[in-house]
Amino acid sequence: MGPGSIGTKVGTMDGTKASLRVRSRTLVARDVVALELEAVTGARLPDWTPGAHIELELPGGLVRPYSLCGDRHDAGRYRIGVRREPAGRGGSAYVHDRLDVGSEVAASAPRNRFPLIPAVRYRFVAGGIGITPLLPMIYQAQCTGVPWDLLYRGRARAGMPFLDELATYGDRVTVSAGDEHARPDVAAWIGAAGPDALGEHVYVCGPAPLIDAARAATAGRPAGLFHSERFVARAQESSGGPDTFEVVLARRGRTVTVGPGVSVLDAVRAAGAEVMSSCGQGVCGTCETVVLEGRPHHRDSVLEDDEREESGLMYPCVSRSHGRRLVLNL
Ligand code: FES
Repeated sequence: MGPGSIGTKVGTMDGTKASLRVRSRTLVARDVVALELEAVTGARLPDWTPGAHIELELPGGLVRPYSLCGDRHDAGRYRIGVRREPAGRGGSAYVHDRLDVGSEVAASAPRNRFPLIPAVRYRFVAGGIGITPLLPMIYQAQCTGVPWDLLYRGRARAGMPFLDELATYGDRVTVSAGDEHARPDVAAWIGAAGPDALGEHVYVCGPAPLIDAARAATAGRPAGLFHSERFVARAQESSGGPDTFEVVLARRGRTVTVGPGVSVLDAVRAAGAEVMSSCGQGVCGTCETVVLEGRPHHRDSVLEDDEREESGLMYPCVSRSHGRRLVLNL
């Protein structure tokens, strides 16, 4: 194992987890590194689609999702971009300080909660490191000849990763660096919902104010045309349901009572369910759980409002129940 190895080896690729090795490490902007990862065994890596992420398993039980931002047609390597978050819980610091070329790290197979839906046109809006899931989307749109453009905002040009790659797309890309330009008018950039906007999908990834501005700008459009991925949680609604309710773990045949001040995640884990988690704030989607019966009170920031009722999913680190009973596929 190389420098910075984690010591958690998960064997060969089994379709759900992989032992990966850092193949290259590049500083792509101030406080942002890009890592290329390959299978320790040299095997082909699982396929993925634009918007997908992998979860790195880091020391101390940390699980951190990172968007795949490389070439999905290259089955020999994944690329991720990681910004150092000084106020984080240590995941990004570990990646920056300990994962060097040759280091090994356990990772999940790719998952995609932010898929690129076929459209007649794409409008991409990125804030800072939020450019990472959009890079493969842009590449796909470009390859398939679907019109697209990108508004890319950052606090300062020096901290905006992958500007050199985006420069190859010319005036499809609008770069707005905070140390050079005033805050962009996102609504004006997205434009009104006229006939030209029919079949146009808007994809946004970045900080909450950027996402909220883009969502507000598309408020009058048909449902399903707006897609976002967040780094920080939306303000959570109060429960709106009973303080105490039952959760049935269908596969284990157990029922647990969830009381006030206890998350569904903690309650089901105490009953023996193994549910991975990362952010604990309803942002990353790692704890995604299938709901078999009952109506969750969704308090996450993963699903769009118009996806919630139909999704059949919940994020038990923050979400609760509207009724007295939920049945989960655990
Ligand atoms: S752990 Fe991140 S959404 Fe639940």
